[in-house]
Amino acid sequence: MIPTVELGIQPKVTGFFDQSSNTISYVVQEPAGRACAIVDPVMEFDQAAGRLTYESADQIIAFVQENDLKLDWIIETHVHADHLSGAPYIQERIGGKIGIGRHVITVQDTFGKIFNEGTEFQRDGSQFDALFQDGDTYCVGAMQCRALHTPGHTPACMVHVMGDAGFVGDTLFMPDGGSARADFPGGDAGELYDSIQKVLSLPGETRLFMCHDYGPGGRAIAWETTVAEQKKHNVHVGGGKTREEFIKFRTERDAQLVVPKLILPSLQVNMRGGEVPEDQDGNMVLKVPVNKL
Ligand SMILES: [Fe+2]
Repeated sequence: MIPTVELGIQPKVTGFFDQSSNTISYVVQEPAGRACAIVDPVMEFDQAAGRLTYESADQIIAFVQENDLKLDWIIETHVHADHLSGAPYIQERIGGKIGIGRHVITVQDTFGKIFNEGTEFQRDGSQFDALFQDGDTYCVGAMQCRALHTPGHTPACMVHVMGDAGFVGDTLFMPDGGSARADFPGGDAGELYDSIQKVLSLPGETRLFMCHDYGPGGRAIAWETTVAEQKKHNVHVGGGKTREEFIKFRTERDAQLVVPKLILPSLQVNMRGGEVPEDQDGNMVLKVPVNKL
């Protein structure tokens, strides 16, 4: 079995910041070769107009093509609730397999009920090309990668380790941002703490790449840090904060947070692997269930 983190293997990581959702998507290139993975691509949605656009995904596609890369995987760290996935749009144009955590079936079951989906909505994860379990490995060219199950923010969250780089999704924010909320259906602050400890148990030099950054206190947007930095300075879990302290803090903070602007469209699309649901005539349509969340 390969170690979880291979510090000697250093993929080239390029971040793409989507201003509309404060999401960072990544292209991760194997160190010697043309293979790459894309992590958490975005599709823009203007909710007032009901209009989809693809600026961010087009930028990533152009990068892959200009650098003559071969796309092996499109990785979703979890079912995002704040932006729509650009994975199918990218796959249609430049290939790659779409992978997510196996527990997406729990998310599909929960939100299948909330959105009162019919039987045509499969709750078995079949919309994705691969469903990862904790510790599963896959390859980007010659670089072996590993998926770690890190529930808490959502039940299906995974951290993906590629060489010396970890893509943490919403398990952690930058040290001055702390951690993501744990109050969505299926979320759990205690589980999130345990998952964060799992990430912090990786070697200190492991590079960590965030899925979101909001530039707290007006600092410039940033997305890369290390395990050692998080351990020392993370404002929610650093400096040896206990599980109990974290649960109390996280629960009180979450009670004050507003619902993400795009949660309703995001969940309907992302639980389908990024496909927009259609009515019986093939028109793309989204529901607004009232008083259900
Ligand atoms: Fe999230």
